[in-house]
Amino acid sequence: MPSNSLSRIFGITTFGESHGPAIGILFDSPVANQDFPYDRIREALLRRAPRSNSSTARKENDDLEIISGVFNGKTTGAPLCILIRNQDARSLDYEPFKDLIRPGYADYSWLQKYHIFDYRGGGRASGRETVARILAAQLLRDLIPDISIETITLQIGKLSASLDGVCEPNYFHWPDRDTYPKLLRYIEQTKQKGDSLGGIIRVVARNVPAGLGDPIYEKLSANIAKAMFSIGTVRGILFGDGHDLASLPGSECNDQFVEGKCITNHHGGILGGVSTGQELRFDLVFRPVSSISLEQETVDYQERPSRIKLSGRHDSCHIPRVIPVCEAMLTICLADAIQYQRLNSGKQDLAGYREALDKLDEDLLLLLKRRREIVQQVKEYKLANHLAPKDPIREEEILQKAANLAQELDLDVDLVLRIMKLNLLVSAK
Ligand SMILES: Cc1cc2nc3c(=O)[nH]c(=O)nc-3n(C[C@H](O)[C@H](O)[C@H](O)COP(=O)(O)O)c2cc1C
Repeated sequence: MPSNSLSRIFGITTFGESHGPAIGILFDSPVANQDFPYDRIREALLRRAPRSNSSTARKENDDLEIISGVFNGKTTGAPLCILIRNQDARSLDYEPFKDLIRPGYADYSWLQKYHIFDYRGGGRASGRETVARILAAQLLRDLIPDISIETITLQIGKLSASLDGVCEPNYFHWPDRDTYPKLLRYIEQTKQKGDSLGGIIRVVARNVPAGLGDPIYEKLSANIAKAMFSIGTVRGILFGDGHDLASLPGSECNDQFVEGKCITNHHGGILGGVSTGQELRFDLVFRPVSSISLEQETVDYQERPSRIKLSGRHDSCHIPRVIPVCEAMLTICLADAIQYQRLNSGKQDLAGYREALDKLDEDLLLLLKRRREIVQQVKEYKLANHLAPKDPIREEEILQKAANLAQELDLDVDLVLRIMKLNLLVSAK
């Protein structure tokens, strides 16, 4: 069963390993004739790239190599295949551990399953794989133009942020200016000890339309949870008030309608698996990454006891790097849900109407261009056959036909005649 599909609705598959030649995506059926969002993708990739001491020292340019599906800067509707070459992988770093199971990695379980494991970096289990998700999300971003997604970090290791705090934007999305220096020291000290830290983040999406998600097996909450769990190190997801909902009585958990409107949002914008139109909100729990440079007990591939002390380039606190990945996965989930809704309800939303109008405007301009070409051919014909360039009787005929058709189609006859006269005026030039 294919299992590398990121979006079944759009047919997007990702591929590639940490130390292979490239990471990439194959987008089966992209919308045709759209500007390829090159700058936006570059910007989004930069957000995921390591940018602090807490992140891996591996420096990848993440340059895009478009293999197919783009012509003159626009999508053609043909399969879109994009590669990002791995240029700074140092596979030799991993040679000393190639026969050892690295604790906490996917090595052991994947070895049990496949009887072979690409130990270089982490192979397909590496965080490097997530670069493909950023690409995919940016290609779908235009489908959710009105939705904004924001993330804050609630906790890193044992340090919790005070939500009353204020903070300028920072790499860790830490919403608490007072404890920010302490956080940086804590992460640096943990790194110096050769250890790593996990944390908890809160993701919020605003302007999510009501009605997304399908009962029973395609619940929006279930699909979001699945998408988030596909990201390495995710260990939990809690929608809305999360743990608190377990201890509160029903009377304090129900979002009551006061004067026709919900004034609370304890459930994070999803009820019965379907979005309510309120803010979509969930918390994600991350374990620390497994690559630490402290000595650990392990076994080799023959399951003989051994010890391991890892070296190489790793994220000691990967939280800032997973944030863009979680936002990308949510973008994909919401774009999927919106597209599913369009295909199934036959009811258009504003974005759908606008898309249809844009397409019609484009068709109108193409028709005008085609008309101009034919007018030019008529001019050349008349010139070659010594005929008068202007023909008032013919022009009157054209206007009369347009007026009759406008009446038949219940259009504004005066407006149509004005447009047609302008058309004739332009043709005469
Ligand atoms: C953006 C990102 C960066 C990561 N960096 C590292 C890393 O430097 N070292 C490491 O051991 N794991 C890293 N991971 C985690 C591994 O991918 C993950 O722990 C591993 O595949 C095992 O999967 P699991 O944690 O879901 O069990 C990273 C994950 C993400 C999403």
